[in-house]
Amino acid sequence: MAKAVILSGAGISAESGIKTFRDSGGLWDEYDVEVVCNYDSLDKNESLTLEFYDKRRAELADIKPNKAHIEIAKLKKDYPNDIAVITQNVDDLFEKAGLDREKEVIHLHGFLPEIICRECEAIFNIGYKSIYDFHNGFCPKCGAKTRPNIVFFGEMAPMYEKLNKEIQDCEIFVTIGTSGNVIGVNTIAAFSDYSILNNLEPSPVIDEKLFDEVLYRPATEAVDIIVSNIKQKLNSF
Ligand code: APR
Repeated sequence: MAKAVILSGAGISAESGIKTFRDSGGLWDEYDVEVVCNYDSLDKNESLTLEFYDKRRAELADIKPNKAHIEIAKLKKDYPNDIAVITQNVDDLFEKAGLDREKEVIHLHGFLPEIICRECEAIFNIGYKSIYDFHNGFCPKCGAKTRPNIVFFGEMAPMYEKLNKEIQDCEIFVTIGTSGNVIGVNTIAAFSDYSILNNLEPSPVIDEKLFDEVLYRPATEAVDIIVSNIKQKLNSF
């Protein structure tokens, strides 16, 4: 297990131009989460839901990783076994910064460039295309409908098992750009030896007193301190 877990959320990608969810003007202001991201969204609002993810996927084409993704990717390359890069984000910015989607990043809520067959669960990477441009939205293996490889609210999130394993005995916990509404970062911070919180501002559900270092500033400005502190701690073990 890694000694340091770096858990990121939408805020790490905000400076690359991807909207967060709950900040003012965020995605959940514009769209009804119950309509496009619920366990029953595909049954009740199929075309709207697929269109929502088609738009998000297409937006990724021109988006570049920022300094925070790049520095964390470098840290992971320098300490491959000591760092777990875990993200709630479905964008591919850590991959664009050089990390391997399968081996070096844990995507808790899925991965936008991928679609998955609703029946046989085969996964296909369609890049930034519309789901309809890949076999008209049907699985080339079994013929059933495909859907975005995204975890909707109320669905099982298989990658949470990996998160749980990684946080079991992690010594360092760093959270960057998440409001903490979905993953309970307080408990993880409380059980780790050293922890850092980086967001733009306090979140009503995060208890900053549980963190050793609190950095309320853009991730691109916080990342040098974050990387330096992680290295210092890792070298002292
Ligand atoms: N640098 C650092 N933090 C930032 C920045 C930035 N440039 N911009 C915004 N933030 C912080 C905000 O202060 C906020 O705390 O990012 C956080 C974004 O919170 P949310 O929008 O709630 O995003 P996130 O926590 O990732 O959402 C979790 O909810 O809707 C679901 O599945 C979706 O994965 C997502 C999950």
